[in-house]
Amino acid sequence: MPRKKLMAANWKMYKTPDQTRQFFRDFLPLVANHDRDEIVICPPYVDLLSALESAKGSNVAVGAQSVHWEKEGAYTGEISAGMLQDLGCTHAIIGHSERRQYFGESDDTVNLRLKAALEAGLTPIVCVGEVLEEREAGLTEDVLRRQCTRAFHKVSTKKAGKLVVAYEPVWAIGTGKTATPELASEAHSLIRGEAARTFGQEFADNLRILYGGSVKPENAKALMAEQEIDGALVGGASLDPKSFAAIVKY
Ligand code: 13P
Repeated sequence: MPRKKLMAANWKMYKTPDQTRQFFRDFLPLVANHDRDEIVICPPYVDLLSALESAKGSNVAVGAQSVHWEKEGAYTGEISAGMLQDLGCTHAIIGHSERRQYFGESDDTVNLRLKAALEAGLTPIVCVGEVLEEREAGLTEDVLRRQCTRAFHKVSTKKAGKLVVAYEPVWAIGTGKTATPELASEAHSLIRGEAARTFGQEFADNLRILYGGSVKPENAKALMAEQEIDGALVGGASLDPKSFAAIVKY
């Protein structure tokens, strides 16, 4: 069975609750009845409720941009998987490169967050990807293998069920430089291979691997045509309803 693509928006630190409601007013009619792909919007935490209320009864799901691994506790500024699940969120991005770069996210904390998200029944979108220096030094494969191995550490195949991986080459994020479909495909195959090693071939065959990094309406079609690419994780171009709808409908 072909894998259903997941088209995900990562709003990063953009939009207020009011702007979120406005986005949904404009966006929902543009994607009404679109059931070829799964659609999810991941706004900042403060916008989750507005997004969930706006998306109610529609074909659009709502997710968070991170999730803490403990159920509750003295962790100022953090949000647990159970809290997100209770609110109505279904997805959570984990280990985005900006969190790794600016907020001390490590392969080990990615692993903890992944386990907590799976435990709570969320669909985790685990981000991996090399920085420019790593690619230029020929280290891309090593980096992707390490990030996957450590993210998947002690996650059983049975529990991994809803796992989604996003390949986001860091040099392509917000730079306007997109990985070519071929280059992305190569990385996706490698990630799928790692998933097969950890979770078995059948699991890997069903695993969705998204591409992220300067996805735009103009390049979405060519990227999504690749058999290895099972969707997109879109930053900048997801902030505008028309542009994200055009990507979703590639
Ligand atoms: P851009 O689409 O703005 O390059 O961001 C990609 C990204 O980081 C999505 O998570």
